[in-house]
Order: sequence, then structure tokens, then C-alpha cells
Amino acid sequence: MSRIRTPLAERIGLKYPIACAPMFIISNKEMIVAAAEAGILGSMPSINLRTHEAFREALGWIRQRTDRPFAINLTIKLTEPERLAQDFEACIEFGVPVLITSYGNPTEIARRAHERGMVVMHDVIHLKHALKAQECGADAIIGVAAGAGGHAGTTSPFVLYPYLREHLRVPVVAAGCIATGRQVAASLSLGAELVYMGTRFIASTECGADERYKSMVVNGSPEEIVYTDGVSGVHANFLRQTLPGATITAADRGAAQEAVQKEGGKKWKDIWSAGQGIALAREVKPIAAIVDDIVREYAEAVRSLPALEG
Ligand SMILES: Cc1cc2nc3c(=O)[nH]c(=O)nc-3n(C[C@H](O)[C@H](O)[C@H](O)COP(=O)(O)O)c2cc1C
Repeated sequence: MSRIRTPLAERIGLKYPIACAPMFIISNKEMIVAAAEAGILGSMPSINLRTHEAFREALGWIRQRTDRPFAINLTIKLTEPERLAQDFEACIEFGVPVLITSYGNPTEIARRAHERGMVVMHDVIHLKHALKAQECGADAIIGVAAGAGGHAGTTSPFVLYPYLREHLRVPVVAAGCIATGRQVAASLSLGAELVYMGTRFIASTECGADERYKSMVVNGSPEEIVYTDGVSGVHANFLRQTLPGATITAADRGAAQEAVQKEGGKKWKDIWSAGQGIALAREVKPIAAIVDDIVREYAEAVRSLPALEG
């Protein structure tokens, strides 16, 4: 049986050190089960379910279909406090193995999660926040590099992963623009213990994204990704053709950003986020087939590296 071992993947109980990252609105329980069965870590934000009751039902549905590890993303400051507390309690009750915390301080969640043996991963774009999250009790830090889908950072992945690794006691998870097995090999060689991919899995059969969204991901080029804070106030990457006033032929990023700022308020439902990894996602496939591709590409990449001679 094939396997790629890293200490963090072993701790969580994964066959491959890969996570299907949580994505607002479009990640779902079907992706979690498909990812788990393919040997990777599936996830979704708890608030992708409209109500706490629907979230509980989804946890039950997942638990009936797989006994493998999966993750739930608790978006701390983006979730109404009562709902956050209820969703967290449900994660404890259903024995969710991994929590991914974002947009807030994970101290209290980490403390209680550790009493239950859960693993807590927290995502950051800077070393400063990484050190803080480590002090708050995160078991692993997700470094979100430049070009990532969603709220991306500005640091090159070539620097971010080894830089975080050098300064942290806890393992680093690599995120941002990773869509192929070749990049998984690169991320592990840069010191990551887990590789976190969002954009590649938008183009999966199981993903809840609109078919036109999936089509833009598999047909797109990195030049079509616009980094702007005009949509939500926090910098994130978006498909240019979904920004108000922007078309695929509009060459001017500045004009696209201005148009977004003018319209304001429009949310991720209409304006679609993706990272520069669209350059390398070429086909919509079931998650199991995507994982097969990644594992094959990984093996080829590792084999094809020039050996040190002499
Ligand atoms: C459409 C979309 C929605 C996202 N929503 C969330 C979210 O709700 N919570 C979160 O922690 N990260 C979110 N992210 C970030 C991803 O979890 C992950 O960090 C990112 O996709 C990795 O970069 P990549 O897309 O280049 O693979 C989102 C990303 C995308 C593309």
C-alpha cells in the first residue's frame, strides 16, 4: 500500500500528507468523505451549514460514512459567538479529530480540544501571527503564501515555509498555489509536514461550486487572479472575470479593483475566489482521481531529481 509519511500526517492518521482545505460556501460533507477515503484530510468551515442543527446533521452523515480523520474549520471572528460555541461543542461530541482555526485567537478552543486529544491547526500569513498561534496552543501552523486562494499572504512560498519552520517548534503546513504532486514534493523539501490545497479541489466533482466556477478554474491562467481587499476588507485572491466591472479581457488590475471598491458589499457568493494554482488544475475530477494524480506526480518528481554526484 502506498503511503507518504511525515510526523504530522502520522499523528493525524493520514495516508498522504495532504489536506483538502476549507473553503467558505463551497466545501461540503461529500468532499470530506471523499478526501478521507482517498487517504487525505478533508475539511469544511462549520458555517457552510446554515444552522447549527444542519451542521450537527452533517457531522452525523460524515461519521456514518467514514471512520477516517477529517477536519472542521472554526472561523472564530466570522462566526456569531453562540453559534461558534455550539459548533465547537458538536465537534467535541462527534469526536472530530482535527480543528482548523482561523480569523481569531484559538487559545480557548485549543485548550479544550487538547483535553480530547484533538489536533488544532491555525492559519497565518506572517511569522508574528504564527508565533502567537503557537503560544495559544496550535499544534501546527498553516502558512498561507502569496498567490493562495482565499485570504492569501504576500510572502513567497519559497521563503514562507522554511522561514516558519526555522522559527517555530510546531510543524508547518504549506498552503498557497499548490495543485500538483511536483509541488507537494517541493513543499515537503521546504520543510512542510502537510500540504494544504484549496483551489485544486474547487475543480473536483464533489465540490459544491457552480459549474461555471469549476470551468474558470480549469481553464484559467494565473494572470486572471486579482489580489484585492475591495471585496471583504481583507486582501484575498479572486477570479478577475467575476469582479464587478471586470472582464476576462480587461488588462488593467487597478480598474478591476476600483470597480470592486465602488460596488462594495457583494460577497463571495457572486465574486469567486481562487489562487494562482488555477494554472495547474486542468480537469474537473473526483477527489480520489485527483489524489491518484498527485501521488503519481509526487513519485515522478522525487525520482527525477538529479542526484548529488561525487
Ligand atoms: C473559495 C475559497 C474559500 C475559502 N474559504 C476559507 C474559509 O472559510 N476558511 C479558511 O480558513 N480558509 C479559507 N480559504 C483558504 C483555504 O483554506 C486555503 O488556505 C487556500 O485555498 C490555499 O491556497 P490554494 O487555494 O492556492 O490552494 C478559502 C479559499 C478559497 C479558494
